[in-house]
Amino acid sequence: MLDADVITRTRIDEAELAEEPLLIADGLTKWYGRQLGCRDVSFELYAGEVLAVVGESGSGKSTLLQLLAGQLAMSSGRVLYRMRDGATRDLAILTEAERRLLFRTDWGFVQQDATLGLRMGVSAGGNVGERLMAVGWRHYGQIRHEAESWLDRVEIDPERIDETPRSFSGGMRQRLQIARNLVTAPRLVLMDEPTGGLDVSVQARLLDLLRRLVQDLGLAAIVVTHDLAVARLLSQRIMVMKGGRVIEQGLTDQVLDDPQQPYTQLLVSSVVPV
Ligand SMILES: Nc1ncnc2c1ncn2[C@@H]1O[C@H](COP(=O)(O)OP(=O)(O)OP(=O)(O)O)[C@@H](O)[C@H]1O
Ligand SMILES: [Mg+2]
Repeated sequence: MLDADVITRTRIDEAELAEEPLLIADGLTKWYGRQLGCRDVSFELYAGEVLAVVGESGSGKSTLLQLLAGQLAMSSGRVLYRMRDGATRDLAILTEAERRLLFRTDWGFVQQDATLGLRMGVSAGGNVGERLMAVGWRHYGQIRHEAESWLDRVEIDPERIDETPRSFSGGMRQRLQIARNLVTAPRLVLMDEPTGGLDVSVQARLLDLLRRLVQDLGLAAIVVTHDLAVARLLSQRIMVMKGGRVIEQGLTDQVLDDPQQPYTQLLVSSVVPV
């Protein structure tokens, strides 16, 4: 199922590097016993690019994210990632230590349920600082200072740095999760319904914040959403899933303005509630 020869450790010059995909998903398939999670999902993501994954409930969106993040064992397929040193590696053959470092530093994962993405018993500052320590920061004062500046950046009053997220609102928790994930300057962030479950006004602000951060940091992101407006606002490319398969993908504006598949046409005309 997985070839050892997929690892390309060839050194290439910068210009060439910029044209290589950051992430390649190749035939990702997940069966939960006899229940299909997703099947044969393939795409490429380039540095700085935002891909939206849309589709109805149960279409396989979260399964796909979990496969990418190594949180679920895949039935078949492979994920290739261009590491910071320029080498594209098959994630399946990283050592456990390499994988952990990658997911803690170069990747972020913003969970739909912030209580799963945060350490609820740890202070806001600790939630952010922990990721810095994972990349080698040791100086307490510097960590605290950086955490404060990130709280400020995601519009949380830095004075609340010693409170745990339990005393935060849903929107604040989501923003704290974003700070925790972005503080290590990851190159890729996976987000599962980042604005789900929030008031419409809170959603709009969070979305605006996300859009600015993604732009400022030049992040690549994969954003699962059932809100086409979120996809329109954040992404350059979109992938439409149904029944575990990708049924249409392309540039977001093109797909949303001129959907080819009947299902996508229904989605766009809002006949189907997603
Ligand atoms: N742990 C599991 N065991 C068995 N089946 C599962 C499991 N997790 C997901 N599935 C099934 O896999 C399919 C895809 O589910 P998934 O959670 O990926 O959908 P989704 O697109 O994220 O849906 P939603 O929008 O509701 O979050 C569904 O049929 C679901 O029932
Ligand atoms: Mg889901």
